[in-house]
Amino acid sequence: MTELSRSDFPADFTWGTATAAYQVEGATTEGGRGPSVWDTFARTPGAIADGTTGEPADDHYHRYLEDVGLMADLGVNAYRFSISWSRIQPDGTGAVNPEGIAFYRRLAEALVAQGITPWATLYHWDLPQALEDRGGWLDRGTAEAFAEYARLVVGELGDVVKHWTTLNEPWCSAFLGYASGEHAPGRHVGTQAARAAHHLLLAHGRAVPLIRAAADDLQVGITLNLYSVRTASDSPADVDAARRIDGLQNRFFLDPVLAGSYPVDVLRDLGEQAWFAEHAQGDLATIGVDVDFLGVNYYSRHTTAAGTASGAPSANPGSEFVQMVDTGAPRTRMGWEVHPDGLVDVLEMAAARRPGLPLLVTENGAAYDDELTADGVHDEERRAYLEQHLAACRDALGRGVPLRGYFLWSLMDNFEWAWGYTRRFGVVHVDYATQRRTIKDSGRWLQAFLSAGGRGARSA
Ligand code: FCB
Repeated sequence: MTELSRSDFPADFTWGTATAAYQVEGATTEGGRGPSVWDTFARTPGAIADGTTGEPADDHYHRYLEDVGLMADLGVNAYRFSISWSRIQPDGTGAVNPEGIAFYRRLAEALVAQGITPWATLYHWDLPQALEDRGGWLDRGTAEAFAEYARLVVGELGDVVKHWTTLNEPWCSAFLGYASGEHAPGRHVGTQAARAAHHLLLAHGRAVPLIRAAADDLQVGITLNLYSVRTASDSPADVDAARRIDGLQNRFFLDPVLAGSYPVDVLRDLGEQAWFAEHAQGDLATIGVDVDFLGVNYYSRHTTAAGTASGAPSANPGSEFVQMVDTGAPRTRMGWEVHPDGLVDVLEMAAARRPGLPLLVTENGAAYDDELTADGVHDEERRAYLEQHLAACRDALGRGVPLRGYFLWSLMDNFEWAWGYTRRFGVVHVDYATQRRTIKDSGRWLQAFLSAGGRGARSA
């Protein structure tokens, strides 16, 4: 790898760190916040590896100023955070809770004061429990409720927050939430989880024009988690396994959002053709609404082969027999293989779908077992992961991909969903007992990398 420098990237490149509301905020019963599916799920015995919840997480709700200061210290020019729907509408519908809006306004204004551009995600998995009680994402009404929530939030904050993402990783919301049940709300409806995916995408499509109507200088997009998928061999069964996983995890989301259609092979794998013909095809024009950017979250590659289903509820319903093969590549603490060139694959895959559409890496990062010592956290593996993936971004730019930014997951260690506090992704270490923050070596490396090219202009 030739030496990496900030000047390899455009001067107006967006350099950010990312978090999500339930993972960092804590204060789950303060400020008029109502319960979300994650509050309920985390209290379910056995749901979270260490039996914890998002309380108090990083107490970001109270410590956001310190955290904005850390970002300024790192030298990033953008912060991707998410808005907790149930802080804004405690029951998921009805009037805005002014305290909820006030928190995000304080946060956004503090960022802007430091020259850090706020990038808000409207939905990072924390559905108000009241909406789940009415069917959650299996109910079409949730898409309508989301559109109204989006309209209200952007109406309130659109003067200070100019960059809006509707959804984070709808594949996870639909298939981890409603098929494998590893995530809230922990349901097991098998292939019908595809209907949740459709309602999520409809929510996106309905929200975009309402967001745009709030002000004429807003940028709106959606974030998808894309995977580089390879077949383990040329055997027809393995090739078909790769087609299925690429289908369900990539094309089932990319195609409706950017190409106005659902992939017919995936509907066939799912056995959901009839439901989609009756309930979904008419929504494709709505879902395919123009966006200003696509966010891509990338962590790993899948190498797939045909095998035998275990019988456990799968996140890939209809394709339970597909196995993920160990290629021997190094793995992070999540067990995810490290494949930096897979980031080039997914960016090119997205770029091919809608040539010229600006892309941003909205998440990329790694969990490792960190040790806080007297002289800091020496997380060389994370630093190397970061450097390799930034080099992949440089390669993608060199290949003509319209990449406009990179957000590292994560600013700081936080509540890693079903893994609780047992997985650390931050470039800032958090001691949960004292809430003390310590910039890790990876964070120092990022700081040096960003300052070497001079402090960049605020992202466009
Ligand atoms: C992504 C999520 C994010 C975080 C990372 C590790 O799928 O969007 O909240 O948990 O994985």
